[in-house]
Amino acid sequence: MPNAAIIGTGHYVPERVVTNDDLTRLMDTSDAWIRERTGIAERRWVEPGTSGATLALAASRMALADAGVDAAELDLLIYATVNPDYAFPGNGPLLQQALGVGTIGAMDIRNQCTGFVYGVAAAHGFIASGAARTVLVVGAEIHSTGLDLSTRGRDLAVLFGDGAGAVVVRATDEADRGVLASVMHSQGEFARELWCELATALVPGRWSDAMAAEGRQYPHMNGRTVFQHAIRRFGEAIDEVLARGGVTKDDVALFVPHQANQRITEMVIRRLEVAPERVCSNIERYGNTTAASIPIALSEAVRAGRVRRGDLVVLVGFGSGFAWGANLIRW
Ligand SMILES: CC(C)(COP(=O)(O)OP(=O)(O)OC[C@H]1O[C@@H](n2cnc3c(N)ncnc32)[C@H](O)[C@@H]1OP(=O)(O)O)[C@@H](O)C(=O)NCCC(=O)NCCS
Repeated sequence: MPNAAIIGTGHYVPERVVTNDDLTRLMDTSDAWIRERTGIAERRWVEPGTSGATLALAASRMALADAGVDAAELDLLIYATVNPDYAFPGNGPLLQQALGVGTIGAMDIRNQCTGFVYGVAAAHGFIASGAARTVLVVGAEIHSTGLDLSTRGRDLAVLFGDGAGAVVVRATDEADRGVLASVMHSQGEFARELWCELATALVPGRWSDAMAAEGRQYPHMNGRTVFQHAIRRFGEAIDEVLARGGVTKDDVALFVPHQANQRITEMVIRRLEVAPERVCSNIERYGNTTAASIPIALSEAVRAGRVRRGDLVVLVGFGSGFAWGANLIRW
């Protein structure tokens, strides 16, 4: 069975910076509240009319260039997003077209903040089985067009930003490199703790003015419940993937957690008892970019020289679903 190595990374964030002070002009909030509770100072928002596939394309081109791989060499594309450009089709085929590649397989993954972790696990599985050799895994989100920017929606609106990240995963015969293990979990009993209800198959006509008047087209969250579960599940997923790989936390060079909240990341660091430099954090600049947050942080870490050939890297996510999981990778 071939191994599945990440051979290129890339990311893209929109140019428009939205600071906490900018948000105070839209809703009753403050820079101090947002920084203290979340660690976020600013996030990026697209200009209206920008598509998610456009962000994904920029991140994908960077990952392909980094890998030295021509888009024509791809034989599968996995696109993780909670914000597709259309209800259907998914963004996979849109990115296939934008890349100008042949009629390769293109699939969407709907696992929210853990979408990229599921995507890497899926790429590994397709490569190990021989179904694919070169796979592009993308996480890309446009949250800014779907947030309740009034005071009613402030708990959630201040958290989220737009962006995209991508990796190229390729079959390799090198025994000492690639995805070593992945774990994936879900718990639908908590689906309504962090969710968006409209437009949905459960609503006749897919839309109701009465529901929209209540703001049910926007995401909603029970922040405290999400927080408590996130801390527990991040820790468990890390322990489980390390055990599966037969390694310990001390063997790991870099942990790349989903950027949900700086306080959550700090709790993960405390639980792991590792130096903060071994745990990625960029939420201060981008907020929570859901499926894009792990590949953006990974791409930045690679460029900063924080990941070298032979290093062990752990990607770990938790989010709406609830869904959570982790990948253990030998770089
Ligand atoms: C959202 C979160 C930052 C809120 O922090 P918290 O300490 O739990 O705060 P609370 O929800 O208890 O709200 C405290 C107060 O701040 C207010 N508040 C909420 N959002 C606010 C904002 N953006 N600005 C100012 N005040 C705000 C609340 O209305 C509440 O006011 P009250 O005490 O008068 O009722 C926190 O729960 C969290 O980070 N949860 C996890 C979120 C997450 O990671 N989601 C993504 C997972 S992938």
